[in-house]
Order: sequence, then C-alpha cells, then structure tokens
Amino acid sequence: MSAFRTIWTTEDRFVEVIDQRSLPHEWVVVKLLTYKDAEVAIKDMTVRGAPLIGATAAYGIYLAVREMVEQELDGSFLDLAFTDLRASRPTAVNLFWALDKMRAALDNATDFLQTAWEAAGAIVEEDVETCRMIGVHGLPILEAISARKNGETINILTHCNAGMLGCIEWGTITSPIYQAVQKGLKVHVWVDETRPRNQGANLTCYELTRHNVNHTLIVDNTGGHLMQHGMVDMVIVGTDRTTRQGDVANKIGTYLKALAANDNNIPFYVALPSTTLDWTINDGLKEIPIEERNQDEVKYVIGKSKTTGKLDEVLICPETTKASNYGFDVTPARLVTGLITERGVCEASEAGLLGLFPEKY
Ligand code: MRU
Repeated sequence: MSAFRTIWTTEDRFVEVIDQRSLPHEWVVVKLLTYKDAEVAIKDMTVRGAPLIGATAAYGIYLAVREMVEQELDGSFLDLAFTDLRASRPTAVNLFWALDKMRAALDNATDFLQTAWEAAGAIVEEDVETCRMIGVHGLPILEAISARKNGETINILTHCNAGMLGCIEWGTITSPIYQAVQKGLKVHVWVDETRPRNQGANLTCYELTRHNVNHTLIVDNTGGHLMQHGMVDMVIVGTDRTTRQGDVANKIGTYLKALAANDNNIPFYVALPSTTLDWTINDGLKEIPIEERNQDEVKYVIGKSKTTGKLDEVLICPETTKASNYGFDVTPARLVTGLITERGVCEASEAGLLGLFPEKY
C-alpha cells in the first residue's frame, strides 16, 4: 500500500526504524543494534503508537537473543531484556502482547536466533494484514455516509496519530480512509494537533500529505465547535488498550472528543487490531495504567524555527510553572458507537466483542 514501512530489517539482520521525533521536517533512520536500542527507541518515542511499540519490542527480543548467542551470555540476559522492555511504556497493551508472543515462541525453540527472527517478522506481517482488514471493514461506514450525503465530502475528525506511522503499514484509522480515497470517495480529515507532543500536527498531517488525503489541522479545542456546526460527519480514533467491556484508552483528549460527539449525535468509532484488546480487564477507568510523562513536554513546544530553519524547543510558560502530563485518558464504552476490528465492526461491549472473538468466552 505504502512506499515505506515504519520498521524493517537490514541485510546484516539488524533492525531500522524512522525517528518519528524528527517528522515532518527531517527523515532520520535509526539502526537498532541491541535490545537496549529498542528499549530506548520506545521510551524516548523515536517509535510510538501501540502496534509499532509491540513490533519494536518483538525485534528488541530478537536483538537480545542475538546478543546472548554472539556474546555467549546465559539466559538471565534474555530475562533482563524481557523485564526492561516490559517497563518501557505502560499503557499500550500491544507491548505486553508482543512480548508474551515472543516468550511463547522461544519457550518451544531449538534454534533461538532463527525462532526469534521469524516470530518478530510474523508480528510485523500480522499487523500489516490486520490493518488492511480494518480498512475493509471500516470502508462501508464511510460509503454509507457518502451515500447519505449524495457523494459530498465526508468530514472525519481524528485525534493523535493512529495512522501507518503508529503501525507498520495502512494504520488503523487511516486504513478505511486510504481505501475510501482509493475508491474515489471524497474525504476530508480534521486533524487535532494533539498537544503536548503534537502527533496530529507532526505525524498525521505528514502521512495524509504523503498519501494525498485532503486534511486541515486544527487546535485541540476546535472539534466541539465544528461538531455543533455540522462540519464533522464522524470521529475515528485509535486506541492503546481497550477492555473486555469496550472502554477505550487513547491519547489524552480523546474523551473530550467523545463527549462532544455524543452531545451532537455524531458517530464516534474506534479502529483497533485485536492485539490492542486487553481481555483480562473490564473497567478501563480503574484498571488501565495511564502513563505520566515529563512536564517539559508540556512546557516546551518543539518545531522548526522560522528564523534558523532548524528544529528548536521553545518555552511557553514561566520557567518555574509546574505542568502535569497525563499521556492517555479513557473513553467509556457508552460513548463509543462501534469498534472497527480486523474481524468486523461491533458494539463496544463484552457481548459485541465476544461476537467477533468467540474464542475469548
Ligand atoms: O503516545 P503515543 O504517540 O504512543 O500514543 C499513540 C496513540 O494514542 C494512538 O492513537 C494509538 O497508539 C493507536 S496507534 C494505531
């Protein structure tokens, strides 16, 4: 689908990723040589977005196995790699899913290195196909809106980046959008800038530009106004963890968009691979750990300087002001119109999810 992926392997069997902190201004590739490189890339958000965090962690385990084999280290080194990677970010459950999958593969392995290589590669390929299918199932929702509007432009509002940059290819929310555009539907996306790290402005706008999708950047507080004036037909967001009863954790500010959508009778969809479902918990508000990040992300804004043309950090409050920086919030299932998964669209409820994933009964 796309001219590039977000993570790939090299001829010498190492791993490369895009440094997403430099986008949209610079294209910087980072080579991951050790599991610590993978851990740092997740922690400092060189890579981000739930599925990509999982894929990077999986390759982190492959790199740990490689270090273990090449340096003749014992199994405690691999255990440490699992522990460190598990602690790299707390909210996106894909991280834990991918690490559990790598552990299970290695538990039955005779050739550790080859097994780890193949298992990480399989996680990447699975995500590509999963996201493609999210598009297949999400597309009819867009087609229905387009038909209702007699082919007029569909206005979609999104928050953060749940596009291909948060995954491997296609993305979750962008998969139905890219497939709709390929089919000739008229689509326009309102992109929330998504303070403090501006994933909407930096990343969603970047990939929509690269894929020729009509879009407009808005500040985070604009969505409610647009909804009140009939300028939004639907909201689609991604998620970092969705519970068994359909509560959705996503980038901070998502909940406010869901409230505004509900007040204006605008459908609010969440697009997710099943790897983002946490079947072990129910109540998202009580049970999902919410990441708190450094206050400097709020106090400083990073961007390309108008004067020097270089990336710069600018302080936007008194130096001594305290800031709080919650990374995610939880949107209760009752505010979610539907979950778009690789197996189809369902109600955000345990019954809805079990209808698509009966093996989780
Ligand atoms: O802090 P981030 O940038 O990792 O947060 C990302 C999001 O909240 C995304 O919406 C989510 O991971 C879905 S990515 C398909």
